[in-house]
Amino acid sequence: MMSNEMTIPFHRPLIGAEEITSVTECLRSGWLTTGQRAVAFEKKFAEYIGARYAIAVNSCTAAMHLALAALGITRGDEVITTPYTFVATCEAIQYLGAKPVFVDIDPQTLNMNPDLLPQALSERTRAIVPVHLAGHPVDMPAIMTFARTHNLKVMDDAAHALEAEINDDEMKNGHSASGTGKIGKIGDATSFSFYATKNLTTGEGGMVTCADADLAAHIRRLSLHGLSRDAWKRYTSTGTWYYEVLEQGYKYNLTDIAAALGLAQLTKVQAMWQRRAEIVAHYNAAFADMPELEIPTVKPGIQHAWHLYILRLQLYRLTIDRNEFVDEMYRRGINCSVHFIPLHLMPHYHKTYGLHPGDFPIAERQYARVLSLPLYPALTDDEVKRIITTVQQVISTHARQRKVSYAIRETAPI
Ligand SMILES: Cc1ncc(COP(=O)(O)O)c(C=O)c1O
Repeated sequence: MMSNEMTIPFHRPLIGAEEITSVTECLRSGWLTTGQRAVAFEKKFAEYIGARYAIAVNSCTAAMHLALAALGITRGDEVITTPYTFVATCEAIQYLGAKPVFVDIDPQTLNMNPDLLPQALSERTRAIVPVHLAGHPVDMPAIMTFARTHNLKVMDDAAHALEAEINDDEMKNGHSASGTGKIGKIGDATSFSFYATKNLTTGEGGMVTCADADLAAHIRRLSLHGLSRDAWKRYTSTGTWYYEVLEQGYKYNLTDIAAALGLAQLTKVQAMWQRRAEIVAHYNAAFADMPELEIPTVKPGIQHAWHLYILRLQLYRLTIDRNEFVDEMYRRGINCSVHFIPLHLMPHYHKTYGLHPGDFPIAERQYARVLSLPLYPALTDDEVKRIITTVQQVISTHARQRKVSYAIRETAPI
């Protein structure tokens, strides 16, 4: 690394004066936990998505746990999901005593391949949990059609997919129109994450959206100890101390401090998405013609949320593997990441479900060649240039039998 250059972190949140003012006002208000700000955040979030209901919780993991519980998933059920995700997706299924059943992925989008769903179906299957990986929508039309045919619930994990959409016309493909639209309006329930690195952050936080009033009421009840409706109001001046415990619930409510941050972030979602899309355009322009690299796929008729920029290496054209590539980037001052280590490779999944390397070969093959470049609105133009140049330098140092030096190639003006 050049001595005067700082390492570019994998992520830096974009927190401005609006967020600081919003949180400060909350701190000064005397009301810190779930209250009017959480209610306002839910309302604005539902409006943004176009969803009928939105229930704020303290993580996407909690959102998935509650949504699946309220959809009736219970001990002994099977839930079809993808091994190519963060462990949280699968944990939510396991919390309920249900068994995750994996299907392999589409090698282009890295999302669950709906053509493989029939192989995973059993008489115990109750639900499908697809993940919109990196922000590319999963093929919801195909998944919804399959689910409706087999009487399954769909709870999609949109931790990466806040701004993602499937357009009505191009993606219909003979499937039901209910599989199209903005992510968050298609599945029976959809979960979002506001973790520190996500497209909208509340530090930690999450949201469930759904269209069914009873389902929404049930999720809300479960999020606060199973207490009767609006129990959070019991300490307000208009509230009453009386509440009833209607069922066993959880402590998953979102604080007003976090909601205050979320309300400010929500006003910037479009601008932050645009900046990430602009950075993606620069990355694509620089990398598209490099035979050692494969840029992210964008299927026709979708809007990508651009949570992650997953670059894939053509390993046979390089003298180093992905791990060495990430290390080289780090040595040169760029912090990259890898999304994701397929879950069936994890010791826990081997021990619990007897899964082995080789069980989901497409996921494994893609995992071996992916790295995620920094992608966030707080990146400066100079940083974007430096990231591009560094990738080109690592390639030109380690390309197999190539004479071209990308290090001296001009990158597109930013
Ligand atoms: C695909 C996916 N699902 C779920 C989660 C869990 O989100 P949270 O940390 O808000 O629980 C993550 C977190 O990174 C994720 O990447």
